[in-house]
Amino acid sequence: MTAKIIVTNDSSAMPVFALSNSSVSYIFRVSIEGLLEHLHFGGRVEPSSCYPSEPKRLHRGCVVEFQNSPHYNLSDVPQEYPVFGTSDNRLPAFHAINADGNSTQVFRYKSYQILDNKPDLEGLPSARGGASKSLVVTVIDDISNLRVELSYTVYDDHNVVARSSRIINDGANRVTLLRAMSSCLDLPAADYDLLHLGGTWAREFNQDRLPVPKGRFVLESATGASGNVHNPFISVMDKGTTERHGRVFSSAFVYSGNFSINVEKGEFDSVRVTTGINPFNFQWQLDSGESFTTPESLQVFSNAGLNGMSQTWHSFIKDKLSPENYQGVPRPTYLNSWEAAYFDIDEDKVLELADRTKSLGLEMLVVDDGWFEGRNDDTTSLGDWYSDKRKFPNGIEAVAARVKQKGLKFGLWYDLEMVSPESNLLLDHPDWIIGVPHRVNSKGRNQLTLDLSRSDVQNYLFARIDQILSSGSIDYIKWDMNRTMTEIGSSRLSVDRQLETPHRYMLGLYCLIKKIVTKYPQVLFENCAAGGNRFDLGMLHYMSQGWVSDMSEPIGRLPITNGASHIFPPCVQASYICPVPNHLNGRQVSLKTRVDVGFFSAARGLSLSAEDIDKDFEALKRYVQFYKDTADDVVNGQFYRVQYHDNHVVWQLNSANSKTVYLGYFHILSAVNLPFRKAHLVNLDPESQYLLTSDFGVTNEQVDSHLSFGGDALMNMGLDLPYVSALQAEGKDYLETGDFTSRLFVFKKR
Ligand code: GLA
Repeated sequence: MTAKIIVTNDSSAMPVFALSNSSVSYIFRVSIEGLLEHLHFGGRVEPSSCYPSEPKRLHRGCVVEFQNSPHYNLSDVPQEYPVFGTSDNRLPAFHAINADGNSTQVFRYKSYQILDNKPDLEGLPSARGGASKSLVVTVIDDISNLRVELSYTVYDDHNVVARSSRIINDGANRVTLLRAMSSCLDLPAADYDLLHLGGTWAREFNQDRLPVPKGRFVLESATGASGNVHNPFISVMDKGTTERHGRVFSSAFVYSGNFSINVEKGEFDSVRVTTGINPFNFQWQLDSGESFTTPESLQVFSNAGLNGMSQTWHSFIKDKLSPENYQGVPRPTYLNSWEAAYFDIDEDKVLELADRTKSLGLEMLVVDDGWFEGRNDDTTSLGDWYSDKRKFPNGIEAVAARVKQKGLKFGLWYDLEMVSPESNLLLDHPDWIIGVPHRVNSKGRNQLTLDLSRSDVQNYLFARIDQILSSGSIDYIKWDMNRTMTEIGSSRLSVDRQLETPHRYMLGLYCLIKKIVTKYPQVLFENCAAGGNRFDLGMLHYMSQGWVSDMSEPIGRLPITNGASHIFPPCVQASYICPVPNHLNGRQVSLKTRVDVGFFSAARGLSLSAEDIDKDFEALKRYVQFYKDTADDVVNGQFYRVQYHDNHVVWQLNSANSKTVYLGYFHILSAVNLPFRKAHLVNLDPESQYLLTSDFGVTNEQVDSHLSFGGDALMNMGLDLPYVSALQAEGKDYLETGDFTSRLFVFKKR
């Protein structure tokens, strides 16, 4: 069913707005006071059968009543855009200092507009429209003369509501914005759990689930990047919700800078979820006639548990958020030079790696860090984006051209937003950094952050990358960002605007990136920030894929991929086969398990030296062919978390045409007398037979290739997973003995 927005009047002749598609509805109305009251977000409700589940307006002891409205206490009224100081005790969506110095506003309904499509947000990433309807509701505060346009988009085919707001100062004097959230979702009192994702460098996306506590639960970042500590994503669900059952509400922010997601269980147990720019260390001076647009916040509803939620996020990201140029396009298999050579890279080594890349059947060679002027370790040279003359006497473009002559694609690494203290760029432009007067700048990975709020900095960076991209020899860019902000300020901004620096930085960054990706639509961009330090829907709107984590070792990657999969589909994730022992955690893992875990990312490759490649050449060649053969299935397929336990993980991926089903079984530590386990596959055709064609890899010969299973049996009885044991009975199928083992089953539908 197509998305619909229906506006009716309630019994008091006040408008009721119902945004629906065939599965979900989002309903709110105007109260007799002119406030926007939230009525429902969840399963579809016919506007005609929408009974007025309205705030009770019953006498309650010892509460404040909103202005002259009897028994109307905003602390228990679900609202669309709540403010502070008019009887609501919870954190508001909006908070600002008016020209007269106080911070009280009352936004009352003024008008609405329905649009057949979805306008882009000015200067900010946002989901595309198409097969959607949008509603813009205008509210005004007639004392401060602030006007807010609240935008909502509902889609035909996605259970997603996109929200943002635009604040306009129609008054004569300056208003100071302190808090301008993008969305507020007020849920009725109930027992909810929440799930969020976070961690640190090389341990990103760990999932954490807990009951929604009384008080506030806050996820936020304040250092200029969305960060790896908390991802700008949350799920709030009915207690007892599982992967397949239960109601789930989820919110994610289409923004890469400071964010805040608050879940507040107030005095009457209703739960408020607000998503937006972090108000901590934020102020925005809105002068007369100016407007401020908040980034977009996306809301998902699933009636089918966490898996239902993830399917909605995955299909929405593929369809409406990821760049269109690489939508559904299989990603090239690649060799990345980082863990193969680190900074010790030069023309000869690149050409040697290019030969290995070619002979393995890989499709692209990526030169990571170390290719530019004087960059021999991580202490120098960021900012000086010129080929290092000693390592690349003919320039990196010439090497790129030679690599391409071999029939390969060529990729290059940049950490463009950064500058090394030891660089010509900083010598020439000491004021181009994020910093504050008279203070020492804290360094991260020996580097400082350039002030991208400045147009001269943006122009310099554009010129540098444009010069290389315009050679036409570059097919892929890894866009890295290796530190967060400290001593936050901009030499270009006045004293009263210093706290605008982080958001102005993001606007500058998005402007720069948009200019580059628009000029070079054929180039594949990969988002990276020391791994997953800025892996969010903002960056992934401009870049087709991302380097999820520097944890390239597969057992360390399992929780990262599993956690990230709650929101991100395999098509936006990159991985590679790492050397052993792994350089970060020292773990030794078989080549097969490295391949099997990496299988579930769409961008797949390896980062191995020529010597390491030669040791496993024949096996690697087979695996590369397997990655190539399955590239289309992974970029376009549907991913499911089947089991996630401390000691084993099972994932499934169905090809887009449902004809091929991949089941990855990862076993972590060996032990004796373990349970016999089954995996219940999902979303198969119960009436079809599925032939187990191969367990790709070293154990291939152990598989009886004539095994055929009914879809009903695989889903309802489950597949018996191979047992882990050093004591093996003859003729039985065991998992490889020892720790860190895996199987990748491939079923073909008959
Ligand atoms: C970051 C990235 C790595 C690599 C290095 C290069 O840490 O996450 O993949 O590119 O930078 O310095």
